[in-house]
Amino acid sequence: MKTPPRLQSLVDEGLIDTVVRQLMSGKEALAYVVRCGDETRCAKVYKEATNRSFRQAVDYTENRKVKNTRQARAMAKGTKFGRQAQEAAWQSAEVNALYRLAAAGVRVPTPYNFHDGVLLMELVTDAQGDAAPRINDVELTADEARTHHAFLLREVVRMLCAGVIHGDLSEFNVLLGADGPVIIDLPQAVDAAGNNHAQRMLLRDVGNLRNFFGRFAPELLRTNFGAEIWDLFQRGLLSTETVLTGAFTREERAVDLGGVLREVDDARAEDAARRLRMQPAPR
Ligand SMILES: Nc1ncnc2c1ncn2[C@@H]1O[C@H](COP(=O)(O)OP(=O)(O)O)[C@@H](O)[C@H]1O
Ligand SMILES: [Mg+2]
Repeated sequence: MKTPPRLQSLVDEGLIDTVVRQLMSGKEALAYVVRCGDETRCAKVYKEATNRSFRQAVDYTENRKVKNTRQARAMAKGTKFGRQAQEAAWQSAEVNALYRLAAAGVRVPTPYNFHDGVLLMELVTDAQGDAAPRINDVELTADEARTHHAFLLREVVRMLCAGVIHGDLSEFNVLLGADGPVIIDLPQAVDAAGNNHAQRMLLRDVGNLRNFFGRFAPELLRTNFGAEIWDLFQRGLLSTETVLTGAFTREERAVDLGGVLREVDDARAEDAARRLRMQPAPR
């Protein structure tokens, strides 16, 4: 096909030889099949930040480290420079997550290059060597659903053990490659330790998997792996070897009694301090 303008600089740089075709477009990006020498790869072009929803901007940029304060101030103010900085932070977040997760043994596309707002990565393929379908577009047997669900839960645990939460994991961001499911689309991945939305995002990710695979294997709909994983993670007990039951219920949750008492004490101390401040000054 004719080279799309956003890919021209990669052609000029010799990173891409030809653009074969466009893949199904997602929410935030356009993906293309490209040829690089003997290799077929995927080029992901990010859409403008202004096309993304505000909710995502708030959730995902929280606590993301920004190199300098000028950049941080500009991002907060939403100036043109700020939007560009935010855009760059967003795009490099996906590249960082891909490297981090690949190192942790999570099956994600291998990243090759990041140039001019374009991510060049491994094209995930099916048994015929064609671009792999999203798992949402595949009809599964109950057994296949159970197997893929269990595999992806282990991947979620592996990611969490590497300190990463996907943040937008669903049947639309899992490809069914020749060797099994591959997780894609990570620009919004968050640091499990440094983000106030971490728990909510993990529960949503795991809930999405349950609801999707539960369509083919309804017994999955009664599982509660998300709460179990988060509980173990929080208590420092989660490892890639952890055997999960999916049978987590509120009653079984170990109450952190010390923590509750500390909170009560803190509240009391705060209240006492407030009363003191409100007393008229002694004459
Ligand atoms: N590495 C890849 N291999 C094959 N197809 C891909 C790859 N990355 C993305 N795609 C295709 O491009 C689509 C959009 O990519 P994605 O990373 O999900 O971006 P977004 O959903 O934010 O637009 C995917 O649904 C998938 O069909
Ligand atoms: Mg996507």
